[in-house]
Amino acid sequence: MVESITKIYKHGKVKEYSVQMEFKDKDIISIRDFSVEEIDYILKAASNFEKKKPKAILDNKILATLFFEPSTRTRLSFESAMHRLGGEVIGLSRPSVSSIAKGESLIDTIKTVESYADIIVIRHPREGSARFAADISSKPVINAGDGSNQHPTQTLLDLYTIKKEKKKLNVKVALLGDLKYGRAVHSLAHALALFGAELSLISPRGLEMPAEVIEDINAIGAPVYQTERLDEVIGNVDVLYVTRIQKERFPDPEEYEKVKGVYKIDRSAIENARQSLIILHPLPRVDEISPEVDVLPQSKYFQQVKNGIPVRMAALALVMGVI
Ligand code: CP
Repeated sequence: MVESITKIYKHGKVKEYSVQMEFKDKDIISIRDFSVEEIDYILKAASNFEKKKPKAILDNKILATLFFEPSTRTRLSFESAMHRLGGEVIGLSRPSVSSIAKGESLIDTIKTVESYADIIVIRHPREGSARFAADISSKPVINAGDGSNQHPTQTLLDLYTIKKEKKKLNVKVALLGDLKYGRAVHSLAHALALFGAELSLISPRGLEMPAEVIEDINAIGAPVYQTERLDEVIGNVDVLYVTRIQKERFPDPEEYEKVKGVYKIDRSAIENARQSLIILHPLPRVDEISPEVDVLPQSKYFQQVKNGIPVRMAALALVMGVI
């Protein structure tokens, strides 16, 4: 159990209250399972890991990474975070060389892996698969992306990056690209709304943010504006969060051909942006951000990648109950 002192500013007065939070053995499946206070606490823990060289607090612990879909950043940053905390890593990055290729079920795979590891990180193409794994496993499970549904630790590192760059989270954010299939934006939209951000949702027709995500944002009470055009909002946002069109999720390849390359962020696309704009992307990118943008001070997506390490250290250490 950890305790956080939270400050509420109301009519110029500061009210402090303490919140009891339990992270030990908690699954990280959806960002919706976390309160503002809990997210804040994780971000503070990540900041501490970034400031101080971490100790081997996960010595003798084993992380299993089960990746049934391709990954570079999520798998390697979890593995790097675990190693930096003194732990060991086992895993599957190619299901084709595991017994899944012989027809073993996800249930039997999880029941097996929980005997070998203290914590499981899973990425799977099926929505709900991480929750399913958590329900089976006696060990904590972290969702590294379940289909188009959720990617909660990506959201934590996105929030961490915005807070680091902007010193606050109640900023104006444009989410651009494939808002229908992008799990990173589904998670992030909810969290940004919780923290009082204003959202502009920019997507081509057919790839709009799902209705249930919009309803969720509306229920939280965050302002939201939907458009197909970046030029309508680019002058009025603090953060431009670009996403890839998720080719692999389209049931019909012809539908992908209609929208591929629809947005291209280059120097001209951001010429009317605020000087202080930052550009983020969960990566990988294909062609939606021109490499010429990489050298601009606005581009922060490789810092965002780097921030995955302290954030995932915090997630692992909290769930293991060692901080
Ligand atoms: N952002 C992200 O999830 O990247 P990977 O697919 O490389 O893990």
